[in-house]
Amino acid sequence: MPMNLKGRSFLTLLDFSPGEIRYLLDLSLSLKQNKTCGIHTRNLEGKNIALIFEKPSTRTRCAFTVACVDEGAHPEYLGKGDIQLGKKESVADTARVLGRMFDGIQFRGFAHQTVELLAKHAGIPVWNGLTDRYHPTQILADFMTVIEEFGALEGIAFAYVGDGRNNVANSLMIGSAKMGVDFRIVAPPELYPADNLVSRCREICSCTGGSITITSDIAQGVDGADALYTDVWVSMGEEDKITERIGLLKPFKITPEMIEATGNPDAIFLHCLPAFHNLETELARRFPDICEVSDAVFVGNRSRVFDEAENRVHTIKAVMVATLGK
Ligand code: CP
Ligand code: NVA
Repeated sequence: MPMNLKGRSFLTLLDFSPGEIRYLLDLSLSLKQNKTCGIHTRNLEGKNIALIFEKPSTRTRCAFTVACVDEGAHPEYLGKGDIQLGKKESVADTARVLGRMFDGIQFRGFAHQTVELLAKHAGIPVWNGLTDRYHPTQILADFMTVIEEFGALEGIAFAYVGDGRNNVANSLMIGSAKMGVDFRIVAPPELYPADNLVSRCREICSCTGGSITITSDIAQGVDGADALYTDVWVSMGEEDKITERIGLLKPFKITPEMIEATGNPDAIFLHCLPAFHNLETELARRFPDICEVSDAVFVGNRSRVFDEAENRVHTIKAVMVATLGK
């Protein structure tokens, strides 16, 4: 179905209808096919895109940059310490200035309110590349990967195991509710998502046929799942919680036994990345138990994490093309 998303910001999937999300996924698949076949589209020719990062990023930064260049736009990276944002200049004033110079703004940072303020005052599309509350572009890549694997989202059971109240868990729950997915959060009660967000997602499910289960019972939560998903136990900005999270989440580590417990031989493993799965990082060497997935699962034949990472570029491109392109 043709959709007109021109001029829209992309702050949370709550703002998008199931049809609009479907449209973005279809566009992502077609842009990926074009790129794979060597067909060069220039949907963002002449556009200037500001990429604001308060937090580090590999995938999101690179996906926005590559997507801009693929489509003929110029990306300008504005890192932590490069601009005044909220320090010596209000977020609203920075937004007004960037809105006079650029055609679109990506923001990754802490407070969700910052991306809302940018969108309110910039007068151009603003895209959320992760805040403490949501990570909506990630979920498009996750869903695209599921569609590539199973052909559709319809009938899929998705179990997110781990920190059930972080930005990725929140956005996956919203996206699943919108798309009618059977979605489970498997987490200790201390890390359940906020009641008001769960209620809102259940209301959405009453129209879409989706369902939301929140449980600390691992066997019940993963039973029949088509996709097992996890994320880091300590998100950016929460580094003081490492020991507490290891204590809470150790039983929720994704292992080959947990994949087996789905009872589904076709179940896949997903992770937004970066991941702790071995001792090859500085932090894992200091805290060897901070390991949300075993190496065997991460590198195993059910893992789709690098397809998912690649799909960040196609889905982010789709968001920019749909909201700003020709
Ligand atoms: N998944 C994700 O957002 O990765 P980065 O933090 O590397 O951007
Ligand atoms: N929940 C993680 C996601 C990283 C892509 C974080 O916010 O650090």
